[in-house]
Amino acid sequence: MGLRTFISDHFIKDIVPYKPLKLTKPEKTLEIVSAWKGLEMIIADIIERFGLKNESCIEFGVEFGYSAVVFSNYFKSVTGVDTFEGDIHTENKAEHYLETSNRLAEYKNIVLVKSDYKDWIKRDNKRYDLAHVDIVHNYKETFECGLWAAQHSSCTIFHDTESFPEVRRAVKDIAAETGQKLYNYPYHYGLGILVDKKSIGKK
Ligand SMILES: C[S@@+](CC[C@H](N)C(=O)[O-])C[C@H]1O[C@@H](n2cnc3c(N)ncnc32)[C@H](O)[C@@H]1O
Repeated sequence: MGLRTFISDHFIKDIVPYKPLKLTKPEKTLEIVSAWKGLEMIIADIIERFGLKNESCIEFGVEFGYSAVVFSNYFKSVTGVDTFEGDIHTENKAEHYLETSNRLAEYKNIVLVKSDYKDWIKRDNKRYDLAHVDIVHNYKETFECGLWAAQHSSCTIFHDTESFPEVRRAVKDIAAETGQKLYNYPYHYGLGILVDKKSIGKK
């Protein structure tokens, strides 16, 4: 779950609030503890709103697989990149790649990769329909990983924009750097949503 503080009156005020038109519960979800819980209800709405294709999704920060399984409902392939060793903000710091791979084995469209995002982004040049960034919640890492994600996907979502000011600052700076449109959904610790309107519909 992680070391989050919930600051209910601290929602981002200078970014367009994301207001889903509908909430949809995906067919497949994991019954595990995750701070991501609740966000699964707006993924179909985001895909529809921005006309995203359903080919490919990349996730940085899988942990036990809650969000990866949510994405597996909507994309033909989901690549999940994680050290599977936790970080300074996660409660679990024990290595768990095999355990998580076994838990997710039945979701055939998910491929898990044990890697630091820093190594991954040096060698991947593909484009994705959706990218999700939910790694260590520091400015430097969120900015570096998020900028790559924004440059390689039609839409990039970032968890914890409400609970970690450094994530919020990184997301705002990536929006400024790329010129992409930024929305924020303020619930479930906050989801920043960056949309590359130019790349939607192209591959
Ligand atoms: C908040 S958890 C992800 C939660 C997950 N998205 C969920 O649905 O519950 C953060 C994860 O990021 C991973 N992580 C942190 N820094 C990383 C890095 N530099 N490269 C790859 N993964 C990293 C950690 O190992 C941890 O599993």
